[in-house]
Amino acid sequence: MHLEPMILKLLRQLIGLVGFLVLFAAFLLVYIRYFTQPAIWWTEYLAEASSPAESSDLLTGKMIEPNFWSAPDVNSVADEIEKAQLLFGKELVAHTAQYFGPNGSIEANKTNGLNCQNCHLDAGRKIFGNNYSRVAATYPKLRARSGQVEDVYKRINDCFERSLNGQALAVDSEEMQAMAAYIQFLGKDVPKGEKPAGSGFKDLAFLNRPLDPIHGEAVYVEKCLSCHQLDGQGLKDPNGVFTYPPLWGPLSYNEGAGLYRMSNFAKYVKWNMPLGINYDDPELTDEEAWDVAAWVNTQVRPGKDLSQDWPDIAKKPYDHPFGPYADGFSEAQHKFGPFGPIKAKLEALATGTN
Ligand code: HEC
Ligand code: HEC
Repeated sequence: MHLEPMILKLLRQLIGLVGFLVLFAAFLLVYIRYFTQPAIWWTEYLAEASSPAESSDLLTGKMIEPNFWSAPDVNSVADEIEKAQLLFGKELVAHTAQYFGPNGSIEANKTNGLNCQNCHLDAGRKIFGNNYSRVAATYPKLRARSGQVEDVYKRINDCFERSLNGQALAVDSEEMQAMAAYIQFLGKDVPKGEKPAGSGFKDLAFLNRPLDPIHGEAVYVEKCLSCHQLDGQGLKDPNGVFTYPPLWGPLSYNEGAGLYRMSNFAKYVKWNMPLGINYDDPELTDEEAWDVAAWVNTQVRPGKDLSQDWPDIAKKPYDHPFGPYADGFSEAQHKFGPFGPIKAKLEALATGTN
């Protein structure tokens, strides 16, 4: 009987204590929130935990994607005439060879038989697959390669003349108009001047040694030969259309093409090859990607008169393999690297800190 008041008293004291602690904690939190600077380790921890590239879904363990661009759907276009033009443009990008290749139905032998889609994957819609997302927002633009302001037609014809080692289309042709319309439709929602996440190629760290074509040959034999073939000439189907496109030889891109630069080739391959690879699960190591670029880009391929390119030689990229240069490095180093010192020198020259 005597215990009950004791317990009640204890309980009351306990409730009082808990209440006090809660109030105190609340006060402390308010104080920290409004009157102190957060410690640096805490801010960094928070930033890391919420940074989209780093975070992963706890349940699935899958990486959560940052806000990557995704292609608008041509079929959602209401205007039937516009939709038909866009679908024609998409078809030309995907199956260029059928229309302009050696047996092309619109104009034969206009190109080497590659499709735009061979390098601009999924009809120019794949994340880090050289997609067209930034074209509408960034053209016309001044390009250092030509020293001119280029519109989208000029840029498309650049790929006809270099990557497809062929001839330019007439700007007012139905086909050029359709391709340009489709390519610009893909980027229609991108704000002017912006490059959306996932456009172009994903970056690749430099090696701090020259690229090694001999190692690259071994990579080629192990990981590429089964499709692109021992002689690099690819494989055609019975209709003469490439199932696997060539990587060198007379039907490949020429020496003026974007892929002839080691960095473009290495990035394309690292994040997209062997076929089916995505940026989020690459198969090749960085060394393998760079070295296989060196092997492929030292094989024989069509040349191109590049005498009008890079009118300002100081603007040549670090991996443009043809001199003369403003930076003092050799043609060999511009072709095989190491590229880090060249890039640093070019940046210093550009900002005048040299
Ligand atoms: C052999 C590979 C290859 C093929 C085939 C190819 N391209 Fe390209 N294209 C590239 C590369 C690489 C770049 C980027 C070059 C650079 O940034 O230096 C590029 C860039 C472009 C760009 C500019 C993209 C941007 O974001 O600035 C357009 C537009 C384009 N290509 C259209 C086409 C069209 C249309 C075709 C088909 C007629 C085609 N390309 C075929 C490799 C190719
Ligand atoms: C399973 C078959 C397969 C393998 C293996 C493969 N590729 Fe490809 N590759 C393709 C196909 C198919 C395309 C064209 C993609 C398209 O049109 O959608 C392509 C396109 C390319 C292109 C651009 C088009 C061109 O002809 O210039 C390059 C460069 C390339 N591959 C390099 C490589 C390298 C390097 C390897 C080895 C690391 C490799 N590929 C492994 C099937 C393959």
